[in-house]
Amino acid sequence: MDRKEFFASLGISAASFALMNCAGCAKSTDSPSSGQGGSPASVNLTLDLNAAANSALTRDGGFLISNDVIVVRKSLGVFFAVQRSCTHSNVSLTYQSSINKFYCSAHGATFSESGAVGNGPATRPLNVYQTELTGTNLRIYG
Ligand code: FES
Repeated sequence: MDRKEFFASLGISAASFALMNCAGCAKSTDSPSSGQGGSPASVNLTLDLNAAANSALTRDGGFLISNDVIVVRKSLGVFFAVQRSCTHSNVSLTYQSSINKFYCSAHGATFSESGAVGNGPATRPLNVYQTELTGTNLRIYG
């Protein structure tokens, strides 16, 4: 199943897909597999930090969503990545650098940078992925 078919099977339109995932964000090594709640159980993707689409990762506290993963630049050379969706009811999270937490606007759940639940109603931690920076290529995997 290719990416388009995958998102179609989830009921996500091409327009929604375009908003979630921009061309040039990731190389063709993207290979997310489905996990519980629509978030990838495993990931293997590489982001080119020189690409304009990934410019959010050129500043501390910047983040982006690619392939159902939130990727955050904590500081120069320090990145982390977790699943995009809140474990309570699959609403997209945002990263709030001022409090170093992932936040769900639906019901107020928060998660630490290591994916642990801070505030409910979520009870399950986020899937966390490894990051590896080589030159300007950031690999997210695990
Ligand atoms: S969907 Fe995130 S707290 Fe309910």
